[in-house]
Amino acid sequence: PRTAAVLTAAGSGSRFGAAVPKALVLLEGLPLVAHAARRLAESGVVDLIVVTAPEAFLAEFRSVVGRSVLRSSGLSERPESAGVPVLLTAGGASRQASVGAALAMLPPSIEVVLVHDAARPLAPAALVARVAAAVRAGHGAVIPGAAVTDTIVQVGSDGDPAVVANPDRSALRIVQTPQGFDRALLDRAHAAAAHRAVDEAAAATDDASLVAALGEQVHVVPGDPDAFKITAPRDLELAQLALRAGLI
Ligand code: CTP
Ligand code: MG
Repeated sequence: PRTAAVLTAAGSGSRFGAAVPKALVLLEGLPLVAHAARRLAESGVVDLIVVTAPEAFLAEFRSVVGRSVLRSSGLSERPESAGVPVLLTAGGASRQASVGAALAMLPPSIEVVLVHDAARPLAPAALVARVAAAVRAGHGAVIPGAAVTDTIVQVGSDGDPAVVANPDRSALRIVQTPQGFDRALLDRAHAAAAHRAVDEAAAATDDASLVAALGEQVHVVPGDPDAFKITAPRDLELAQLALRAGLI
């Protein structure tokens, strides 16, 4: 099936605090969005990449991701010289709105959609392929889930520091991207979310939770520690050290 990847990069990166949008920040000389796009292309399972960018920076994003991204890895089934076409679109006020804008750009031939964050620049090509394979095997919504190593407690809402629940750690997963979807199901989940109250919709931090809100099943495949998210400057330093040490 024809597969598109939506690469969300339209956030400002307020917690990161750089002078440019977070996705343009350099990691070993390459912007985060370019790292993520390259690994999507290297998976060999992506036919089209749609990048969401902040409207004021569309030209900068175009210059760093170009009109296609080379499939350069041995994982690719296709000729090394073939590139994956890249489309750019202005994102919205929320991550959800940005994904919605990208979905509206997809050609009718697309049947599978992966949604990935530029904030996870080192998510490996093999993880992209694993998520896509699970969708192709018949799961309508697929997320990578990594094991939790810390004890997690639930505290009261509205900042109440009292512990109200001690969930069983072995039943918890850290949710990563890329997430994979049957295209029609993801379209339906976003349409439903767009109709819900703004404050309620703002609580959704990923796409699979919008699918779950429809009452549909979400399937978990093993995540990957390299798919960690860059939120604060310290995360970028760790990514840089890991790359230099050859750990990633
Ligand atoms: N994103 C987006 N459109 C938005 C907000 C976020 O496309 N309106 C994207 C970001 O670019 C990022 C991903 O969603 O790749 C995950 O968001 P996050 O890590 O929170 O990035 P920012 O929203 O940019 O950072 P912050 O929340 O610290 O401002
Ligand atoms: Mg954010």
